[in-house]
Amino acid sequence: MKNIVLIGFMGTGKSAIGRRLALRLGRQFVDTDEEIERVTGRTVAQLFAREGEVRFRSEEALVVNKVAARSGLVVATGGGVVLNPATVETLKQNGILIGLTADPEILFQRVRRKKDRPLLNGAGDLLARIKEMLAARAGAYGVSEVTVDTGKHGQDETVELIINYLKETGQSGGK
Ligand code: S3P
Repeated sequence: MKNIVLIGFMGTGKSAIGRRLALRLGRQFVDTDEEIERVTGRTVAQLFAREGEVRFRSEEALVVNKVAARSGLVVATGGGVVLNPATVETLKQNGILIGLTADPEILFQRVRRKKDRPLLNGAGDLLARIKEMLAARAGAYGVSEVTVDTGKHGQDETVELIINYLKETGQSGGK
């Protein structure tokens, strides 16, 4: 049974939806950011601050390799996982890539009080920063088979839409 892999920008709800989806399907849930923190003993913010984004991305690639070697999981990825084509290929081999999206204004409201996202910290104009990053990554997020707009659908509805998609495409793994 393939993994169900959630991709999308920061604040689209990958971790929250992933947890619910896993519960609903009786599958194990893995959050790659949490896994990176467990393996390195550092928070994502600490890794960025002390060792830089390059080190974070290499830890991310290692975690993705391990996760992709397992099956039947629901996986929430970090928003930048799509930046590395090799990492995307690895995820695709044994995974169904589901994209989560939301309008920049909604993402802004969701992330503005959080301090744990180094790439958004210190941005003078946070909304502008989000828009700029979304534009830069638009092509990269296009790797998903299907996308759900979590600004338009609540968490339960998003989970149902994903489950329906998996059923319709014969990818629900019998659950
Ligand atoms: C990142 C997103 C974060 C985390 C890191 C980098 C990104 O994950 O992996 O701060 O490049 O978009 P979330 O999308 O879960 O916030």
